Amino acid sequence: MTARSALPIGVFDSGIGGLTVVRALQQQLPYERILYFGDTARVPYGVKSSDTIRQYSLQIVDFLLEQQVKLLIVACNTMAAVAAEAIRARTTVPVLDVIEAGVEVAAATTRTGRIGVIGTLTTISSGAYEQGVRRRHAKSQIVSQACPMFVPLVEEGWLDHPVTRLTAREYLAPLLAADVDTLVLGCTHYPLLQPMLQDVVGPAVTLVDSAETTASRARALLTDLGLLNPAAIDPLHRVVVTDVPQRFRAIGERFLGKPLPEIELVQW
Ligand code: DGL
Repeated sequence: MTARSALPIGVFDSGIGGLTVVRALQQQLPYERILYFGDTARVPYGVKSSDTIRQYSLQIVDFLLEQQVKLLIVACNTMAAVAAEAIRARTTVPVLDVIEAGVEVAAATTRTGRIGVIGTLTTISSGAYEQGVRRRHAKSQIVSQACPMFVPLVEEGWLDHPVTRLTAREYLAPLLAADVDTLVLGCTHYPLLQPMLQDVVGPAVTLVDSAETTASRARALLTDLGLLNPAAIDPLHRVVVTDVPQRFRAIGERFLGKPLPEIELVQW
């Protein structure tokens, strides 16, 4: 029987964007094994109904639990926005999600209490970030903006293309008019746009990338639970997807920042 500490961390997302969280985990927890699941056959989730997203999320969680994981990380903001409660109710395995992490940093970062949040249509209409921030910072003023064009632009690799810049100016105008001092990047894809977004909002606005905080929360939690992998060996990683679309490897490697391991396919 494998010791619980040697089990992998299950990280999941609607597609490959969650590899931004894997990248941060690998930097902060280099000895941990990671089992990444991307539902590439059904991405994008950001425009789907909450019921459908919950159903898909639980299907993924059941798959990861069958594989045996010691921790589950919801790397997808859209899933975290509408399915986090259902996921936690499903299992006794600890669960971390990117929204909790983003909320924690945003509340700790803002000086004026005016916080901007950007994400997919479903994430923004769920109000999950607003509710989370208000729980920690009751007087804060949240200005949210769905940015549905950002996901395809990032997948196209247009990270600092004039079209992306123009789109960002348009989307971010109301947040800048509201004079936010903190901007939460509430979608797996947005950290790749960070330099361009910083340029558009200016140096007075702090950008919050929840991938880094999610990784540090994972490290703290595994340490508390005595579940850090003790073996100082190069860990094995697995990447499981429901479809291998065109350009998958190139796009995935852009998110991960290094070569991807062999890709496993599951079909439901
Ligand atoms: N992973 C999603 C998120 O973080 C973006 C892609 C999608 O719409 O499925 O919200």
